[in-house]
Amino acid sequence: MIHIRPEDRVFILTGAGLSAESGIPTFRGSDGLWRNFRIEEVASPVAWRNDPRLVWEFYSWRREVAAQCKPNPAHLALAQLEQTLGERLFHCTQNVDSLLEQAGCNNVCHMHGRLMQSRCERAACRQPPFDDRNSYPTLESVPICQCGGRIRPHICWFGEVPYHLEEIGAALDHCTIFICIGSSGVVHPAAGFAAQVKGRHGTRSYYIGPEEPANRRYFDENFWGKAGEVLPKILALK
Ligand code: APR
Repeated sequence: MIHIRPEDRVFILTGAGLSAESGIPTFRGSDGLWRNFRIEEVASPVAWRNDPRLVWEFYSWRREVAAQCKPNPAHLALAQLEQTLGERLFHCTQNVDSLLEQAGCNNVCHMHGRLMQSRCERAACRQPPFDDRNSYPTLESVPICQCGGRIRPHICWFGEVPYHLEEIGAALDHCTIFICIGSSGVVHPAAGFAAQVKGRHGTRSYYIGPEEPANRRYFDENFWGKAGEVLPKILALK
């Protein structure tokens, strides 16, 4: 069990494994999304410059897959935890799907962006990201921003800086419980969060997933299993 005391501040980091039971492929697990695409071919500024049509084909497909998926018991357990802990919970997700919001979460920090949002490709453009569930099968169908830039997925690509890092760092500094759910622990900076809290006085760290993450040594305790099955059983609020 993970015992959460009234004085505890909880930092939760979630990865693709959280949405696996909802039908959204992970990137590196056996059903890995990466079997079909080499991620560098479709999720990087170089890929966007070289072949924006392929990039939009990939993200259109991911939008279509995600639109069919529903939250699983792990998402629901996290929504309940948010309700109970309020501002004592900081939930940072690497996931770009909206299943946590569909489960009832209102305060999730999406450090890698949002699949159902798009934005202008130009960094200097002042237009903010906007909700966009559309698929773009051809380059001609991809909208052009008022500034003339091409519209791209609102996703943090390899080689780009994740969002909200300052807020995330502050929450990490103050948490007394760190829980990572369904992340292989190979993509930084998120993969380094567990090391940041390891051994800090009064802080406990846990990992939940079916396989050992690459950063296993930085967790005090592991709960092996699928998030949807394990998570609802192990959160004990005092
Ligand atoms: N419950 C919990 N964990 C699971 C489940 C499940 N049902 N199924 C698989 N997993 C675990 C796998 O064992 C694996 O360790 O989820 C992890 C998924 O790892 P990755 O596919 O590497 O996903 P993630 O760690 O979130 O990737 C980080 O990499 O490609 C980038 O931006 C992308 O946010 C992503 C980042």
